[in-house]
Amino acid sequence: MRQKFVAGNWKMNLTLPEAQALTSEIVQMLRDEQHGPEAAQVVICPSYPLLPAVGRLLGEGGKVALGAQNCHQKESGAYTGEVSAKLLQSIGCQYVILGHSERRQYFHEDNELLSQKLKAALAAGLRPIFCVGESLETREADETFDFIAKQLKDGLFHLSNEEFDKVLIAYEPIWAIGTGKTASTAQAQEVHAFIREQVASAYDAEAANNTAILYGGSCNAQNARELFSQPDVDGGLIGGASLKSRDFVTIVTSF
Ligand code: 13P
Repeated sequence: MRQKFVAGNWKMNLTLPEAQALTSEIVQMLRDEQHGPEAAQVVICPSYPLLPAVGRLLGEGGKVALGAQNCHQKESGAYTGEVSAKLLQSIGCQYVILGHSERRQYFHEDNELLSQKLKAALAAGLRPIFCVGESLETREADETFDFIAKQLKDGLFHLSNEEFDKVLIAYEPIWAIGTGKTASTAQAQEVHAFIREQVASAYDAEAANNTAILYGGSCNAQNARELFSQPDVDGGLIGGASLKSRDFVTIVTSF
């Protein structure tokens, strides 16, 4: 059985006191609710400055892991304002989101740059959550599969088998992010199955079978169970609903 995952992407939200309160609530609720081998691995991805404080509340060896929302592609150096994967690892991060559509769109991150960021993250011992997903225009032009195949090929499939083992993929259709317009379960399943086939041809059947593919885009406490019931949907990357403790914990337990 593949590991299930639910990752909360807090994006550029929450002050320190708000983040501390939300983390404490989530930890407390999960203590009461989440048990057994079926339980999803939970990851929380706050903004950079919140990472140490949130990490302390999660505790070492706790059920919830810490992740970042980005990293720089270089190990260190004169890159004012940037944060290295090595630093993130040293403050307790185990995961890093890479290739989010907001970073691709607003910060012009392309597949070439992302392929370097992936290498840097893996070299530092972080597990990347690599995001792919099409715009509404691409979907309406019936080019979704070609577009995603290219994102995977150019951004991800240069990794060795050993490196790829550590990667999670998130399918986040851009038209579903923050819009309240979720992909239907059939739409999500169709693209997830396609991604898994692409992994099988780039690597092998075992890699395809072991890779966790998460859905993101207006996933919430009401629709998570149905989405997660699909055979190729291994959990979610949650934006808005990860900022509400009860909703997030409901999603975490929606398997
Ligand atoms: P929403 O859940 O707010 O649609 O955001 C999804 C997302 O972008 C997670 O990375």
